[in-house]
Amino acid sequence: MDRLSGSARLMIVSDLDSTMVDHDDPENLSLLRFNALWEAYYRHDSLLVFSTGRSPTSYKRLRNRKPLLTPDITIMSVGTEITYGESMVPDNSWTQYLNQKWNRDIVIEETAKFPQLTPQSESEQRPHKVSFFVEEVKAMEIMNVLSERLEKCGLDVKIIYSSGIALDILPQGAGKGQALAYLLKNFKVDGKVPINTLVCGDSGNDAELFSIPEVYGVMVSNSQEELLQWYAQNAKNNPNIIHATERCADGIIQAIGNFCLGPNVSPRAIKDFQKCKVDIFSLGHEVVKFYLFYERWRRAEVVSSEQYVQNLKSVFYPLGIFVHPSGVEQPFHQCIDSMTRLYGDKQGHRFRIWVDRVSCAQIGSDTWLVKFDKWELSGDELQCGVTTVLLSLKQAEVPDGFTWVHMHQTWLDGSRARDQTVICF
Ligand code: GLC
Ligand code: MG
Repeated sequence: MDRLSGSARLMIVSDLDSTMVDHDDPENLSLLRFNALWEAYYRHDSLLVFSTGRSPTSYKRLRNRKPLLTPDITIMSVGTEITYGESMVPDNSWTQYLNQKWNRDIVIEETAKFPQLTPQSESEQRPHKVSFFVEEVKAMEIMNVLSERLEKCGLDVKIIYSSGIALDILPQGAGKGQALAYLLKNFKVDGKVPINTLVCGDSGNDAELFSIPEVYGVMVSNSQEELLQWYAQNAKNNPNIIHATERCADGIIQAIGNFCLGPNVSPRAIKDFQKCKVDIFSLGHEVVKFYLFYERWRRAEVVSSEQYVQNLKSVFYPLGIFVHPSGVEQPFHQCIDSMTRLYGDKQGHRFRIWVDRVSCAQIGSDTWLVKFDKWELSGDELQCGVTTVLLSLKQAEVPDGFTWVHMHQTWLDGSRARDQTVICF
């Protein structure tokens, strides 16, 4: 992980289904709250790790359906596959290591003798993971018999039961916890162990994460019985693990506050930035705050006041230009006028904006180049503009914010809006 030059301030290692992603929240509000918090205050010096039971195929499917951020590291197939960066470069040493005392063919052969085991779809069967569905009442006994039989065949496996339905068979050295231990070991070799690590989960395959030494842990409020039971039997006296009272991503935010790991109020939870000044110097926050305002303006969730428009104009350099992905260039103040006219046009509609991959480079004593992906969901249309903004510290007696000097946007590959009539941020 070379994105950060030193140790991460915070490394979050989170499960996805029913932890980061709340499938009962069609608006994805808790996830969007987490996203805003992460991009505003953490992205620049912290690491986001997703650790999911899903295979790469099914992980990508989820990413297309939900507003998930781009993680720094992706651990998939219950800790059997690790990839780095946005291009998802696989860790082949990890895969090699998992070959020890593992023979997939023997696992298939032995499990076939249990008619109670229903194989999961082909996409979820991976080189170091064989997965089934099985009823809760039968799971325990099958797990015991099966592990004995596989041991007799000379294999050393780990059998994990999750969400009262899924049964995974993996090499003993695999699993979400082992994968995290491996990452931590590598960070140690590089002298880059994160200052704090927070693990987050809701079900059986997450239990291992909570037994890694020196990490904080949160079991979200909606955690499965099997995880709560594991906790009661194994980790009840560990003060660094909490059972949140909030669901999914809100539970993660709650844990950040509980363990004092950094800012824990999502910009999305702040209704009025005029009244609630955030005195953290953060370019990420500047970008997140602007697009939140933009979303709320179009959803008519802020009042339509001339004062807001004037404030916005004072933040955008009068001679500044916005270069739209279509190539059209327009002065900032004209874009603000277009936006002003769009007040409330998305009221009662599905309309959300979030930013991902915010990165900043200082290019002068008081100027920065900030780059990010701006995602816009409108109805069923999703588009993404790769955006670069030149920001400078305000030249007032007391600098109290930034001036947007120049802005340029291009479409992310494959993303292009159908409606390009209005040129506006
Ligand atoms: C995910 C995977 C599935 C696995 C389950 C529990 O749902 O898709 O294969 O069994 O997680 O680990
Ligand atoms: Mg889960």
